[in-house]
Amino acid sequence: METKQRMPVYYSEYLQLDKILNAQQPESNKEGVRADDEMMFIIIHQTYELWFKQILHELSIVREIFKQDNIHNSTPDIYNSVHRLKRVCSILEVAVMQMGIMETMTPLDFLDFRDLLRPASGFQSIQFKIIEATLGLQYEQRHGKAYYLSQLTPADVERVKQAESELSLLTLLNQWLERMPFVKNTAYWQDADASFWAKYRGAYSASLMEGEQQNMNLFDSLFIDDKQYPEGRSFSADASRNALFIMLYRDHPLLQLPYDLLNTLLEIDEQLSMWRHRHIHMVQRTIGKRVGTGGSTGAAYLKGAADSHYVFKELAELTSFLLPRNHLPQLPESLIKDLGYFG
Ligand code: HEM
Repeated sequence: METKQRMPVYYSEYLQLDKILNAQQPESNKEGVRADDEMMFIIIHQTYELWFKQILHELSIVREIFKQDNIHNSTPDIYNSVHRLKRVCSILEVAVMQMGIMETMTPLDFLDFRDLLRPASGFQSIQFKIIEATLGLQYEQRHGKAYYLSQLTPADVERVKQAESELSLLTLLNQWLERMPFVKNTAYWQDADASFWAKYRGAYSASLMEGEQQNMNLFDSLFIDDKQYPEGRSFSADASRNALFIMLYRDHPLLQLPYDLLNTLLEIDEQLSMWRHRHIHMVQRTIGKRVGTGGSTGAAYLKGAADSHYVFKELAELTSFLLPRNHLPQLPESLIKDLGYFG
């Protein structure tokens, strides 16, 4: 077969540097005002947007993997997903550190050009909002919903709504957890008095300190009661049970990768939270108690979003129900075999 002749690739063309390096147009230049830091301000935002693009690329691959009905722990898919999600964590770590460069701009430097930016704001970063939505943040959970709609163009509102209407990683994770193999229709899992969960309930209850007794209410509603969707939860009872089981018995070979997946999603939430808090500190230092260029209450708005935009909070909460290894119910031999490589 004849091989197709390809044009040699040239560095600057491959990277389309003519577009990227000509995309910095400071407003201060247009106005003839001297503001030496506006170039850095533009480049840092552009860099963030490029990283956001890469994060969305990774998340969309992971989402496609999890959309498959038959995704199974023994395929390369889960490893591939964990690998990509860990890359997202690494990018977010850089995103957090990058705030240090932003902070080299003093409040006075920013005032040189700040008024020229109004009403533009990082709040209008659609990619950031699509990342939140792809992970699983829904419109109803957003802090300052009315403000949110007033700041975006109708086309951008549509883009975010479209992202919110698609299956999020949170929803797909719930479906995947519900399908966990090993949990079979047997007395070991289902008997009201002798099941794994009845035994675990006894051990957990015995471990509680005074003042922790109310934990049993949530324990029962998540793991014992029959209601498949406990009030106000994203995870079904089956998904919560299976996620906790993975966390408890994660040393067994077949649960190691699923545990890595859960842990990496928690890490993404944590890194995003670190980014939000680093951004808040930087904002407080740069504009103090002034409102944002986007017209929000500034740091106060950002604190509200930081507190309420955790996506995998139900997963994080499961750590309240862990027990030390030596208190865990002994698993039956057949289940231990199922959880090993040669089961
Ligand atoms: C001098 C530097 C910065 C200041 C003073 C600042 C200030 C603010 C303020 C006050 C808000 C709230 C909305 C508003 O009223 O405008 C906001 C939101 C936001 N900013 Fe910044 N920002 C800065 C740099 C950055 C950078 C470098 C990024 C990187 C992309 C960024 C991304 C965002 C995002 C994504 C939001 C929305 C956050 C959310 O809704 O939870 N900002 N910023």
